[in-house]
Amino acid sequence: MRISTPWSAYFTSKKTFRVRAVQENVGPFLKWAGGKRQIAQVIKSYVPKFKRYFEPFLGGGAVFFTVQPMQAVLNDLNSELINVYKVIRDSPEELIASLKKHENTAEYFYRIRSLDRDPLAYSALSPVERASRFIYLNKTCFNGLFRVNKKGHFNAPFGRYKSPKIADESLIWAVSRLLLRRDVVFASLDFAECLKDAEEGDFVYLDPPYDPVSETARFTNYSSLGFGREDQLRLKEVCDWLDQRGVKFVLSNSNTEFIRSLYASYEIRYVRAGRAINCDPRKRGKVVELLIKNY
Ligand SMILES: C[S@@+](CC[C@H](N)C(=O)[O-])C[C@H]1O[C@@H](n2cnc3c(N)ncnc32)[C@H](O)[C@@H]1O
Repeated sequence: MRISTPWSAYFTSKKTFRVRAVQENVGPFLKWAGGKRQIAQVIKSYVPKFKRYFEPFLGGGAVFFTVQPMQAVLNDLNSELINVYKVIRDSPEELIASLKKHENTAEYFYRIRSLDRDPLAYSALSPVERASRFIYLNKTCFNGLFRVNKKGHFNAPFGRYKSPKIADESLIWAVSRLLLRRDVVFASLDFAECLKDAEEGDFVYLDPPYDPVSETARFTNYSSLGFGREDQLRLKEVCDWLDQRGVKFVLSNSNTEFIRSLYASYEIRYVRAGRAINCDPRKRGKVVELLIKNY
């Protein structure tokens, strides 16, 4: 997907049902590696006044749900993830009905998981069925990790949880309501493409896959493409370009020498963040990570 029209053309600014009030009881509905739920309030405290909000690495959307901007471009390269957001907005009732049909057994889990190995069967699924499968796998797989192999096949194992909340009805309805009350454009593009028409007055929160602090801590398998040092360098170029255009941004990344020196010309804050997803349970505590800002 490439955009040929500016994002503004996609906003429906004449909506009469927009509600400005901050909506409570809404937040991430998925477990997501690198999720910002625990430091979303800290990040929000840095957010300046802005015209449009951009989040090119949306994931579980913790910061979006905290800031609740009126106009937003929400993007993630993972098109199946973006499909889930759209289905929650447009078809919450059908989605909940489908989620209620799932079973929490290993045999059923592996059958549902294997659907993406057969492109024909997979393409026959409706958007609601694909979203339902995605949420089901997220709630029942080991550690709630969305992980794919080089072929793009979901490969996290069954989690053996006693009673995972597969159909969280009130949360799905709350997220749907919020998305309908905001002018949100969803996209599934590379971050650089998504930010192409950002302009002065816009604000961007960037939460890319992190530069690994060690070889064993490497988790960038959100997509079959991965996210290596070349991508981190590309991201820095995009940040410089945003800065030159007068676009304010906050970027999260890990506390590595590479990232600190790459962004040495910007303001770097150190924050303590909880890490809920780590294959080693002893490493699920708090780690220091970076918030880099250009204003
Ligand atoms: C650290 S996670 C974001 C977590 C999110 N802030 C949250 O609170 O859950 C990084 C996200 O970037 C996405 N991603 C990876 N490569 C990308 C790319 N080149 N362009 C856009 N998104 C990408 C991944 O699919 C993943 O969801």
